Amino acid sequence: MEMFFKIFFVYILIGIFIFITISTLPFYFVGIFMQAPFVPTSQKMVEKLLKLTNFKDGDHIIELGSGDGRFLRTAGKKFTNITGIGYEWIWWLPILSNKLAKKEKIFPRIKFERANFFDKDLSNADWVVIYLMPNAMPKVLKKLKSELKTGTKILSHAFPIDGLKLIKELPKDEIGTRVFLYEI
Ligand SMILES: C[S@@+](CC[C@H](N)C(=O)[O-])C[C@H]1O[C@@H](n2cnc3c(N)ncnc32)[C@H](O)[C@@H]1O
Repeated sequence: MEMFFKIFFVYILIGIFIFITISTLPFYFVGIFMQAPFVPTSQKMVEKLLKLTNFKDGDHIIELGSGDGRFLRTAGKKFTNITGIGYEWIWWLPILSNKLAKKEKIFPRIKFERANFFDKDLSNADWVVIYLMPNAMPKVLKKLKSELKTGTKILSHAFPIDGLKLIKELPKDEIGTRVFLYEI
């Protein structure tokens, strides 16, 4: 009987190991092959980023890699006449973001879609919001330059995008994070 429980316990442990490995694969995949892993912006930083924006009525905001949607959802609640869409690769994050947006009564004015943002057209954006790794920037820059209309603003959290016209840069905060505002 004791032997039975030991074997049972080992099978449970193997099961848990396999479950954790499989369920976290998307994170490794996105981290290695996409443009950044899921690292959410702190709510304090979201507020700081919003202070840099001067969204006007009718502005359309596109977020590349929207995570759990906290930036766009906060913006959508504060600026009631903007529209926004967040593209996010990890399948459950847009589901969660849309659910929260519905609860916050900002959906579908603010919405989220599971997509590789490189497959999406950005030409109707007035603002593009980015929090991606530095190695993603050359490819992102090429896309921004080829699709965005003149005057579109780009807000980049943490990493610069070399090759764009810098409008404003916030000094490093207490943990050394930088914020860059560009215009096409
Ligand atoms: C550093 S996180 C930032 C999340 C969110 N923007 C925030 O500030 O809280 C970057 C996000 O981009 C997503 N991502 C990376 N490459 C992507 C791609 N090519 N298409 C869609 N989403 C992508 C990741 O899955 C991750 O959730």
